[in-house]
Amino acid sequence: LKVGVLISGRGSNLQSLLTACAASHFPARVALVISNRADAEGLRHAGDTGVTSLVIDHRNYPDRERFDAALDQALRAAGIELVCLAGFMRLLTPGFVTAWQGRLINIHPSLLPSFKGMHTHRQALAAGVRIHGCTVHFVTADLDAGPIIAQAAVPVGANDDEESLAARVLEAEHRLYPLALSMLASGRARLDGDRVILSDTFP
Ligand code: GRF
Repeated sequence: LKVGVLISGRGSNLQSLLTACAASHFPARVALVISNRADAEGLRHAGDTGVTSLVIDHRNYPDRERFDAALDQALRAAGIELVCLAGFMRLLTPGFVTAWQGRLINIHPSLLPSFKGMHTHRQALAAGVRIHGCTVHFVTADLDAGPIIAQAAVPVGANDDEESLAARVLEAEHRLYPLALSMLASGRARLDGDRVILSDTFP
């Protein structure tokens, strides 16, 4: 399965996907990385592994529709079958999301449906939850609300601050995203309407 990864910054989740895909038995490979920022650190990870990367700067487009059309065109030109958002900080238009429905996934640093949006670790600490985590889900037009593919739970420690909690969740993200990708790429999970169907042999 040919995967495209969209990033905006650090790219540590991109790195975890690249590492997983490098294993010979892994059922997917990253064929294209797109960043909307030329200074995204994550672009280096693509370069290091010889994966093609592109910068498509949203500031060069008059509106979201035309930016998304450029993304769409680049992904199709590369024969991409599944798109992974990995710290991609642009909202996608309903047109793009619909065109890629069932083939567009995201990782979010909370146990959805709790703590959508930004500053999820701050939200979790403010709510006083004892269990936090991360979620890989299909992207729909509603922010952080699409069908859930996989989740990982992370304990909140008595002395955690935003930074320490973020670091613990990020480690879980780096295990979860490759797992979710392999579930999709091997057909063990798929989208059926607005539900994720898991094959009965999973896990
Ligand atoms: C991750 O915490 C991810 O869940 C969120 O943004 C962060 C991106 O980090 N969507 P990185 O760029 O993958 O290192």
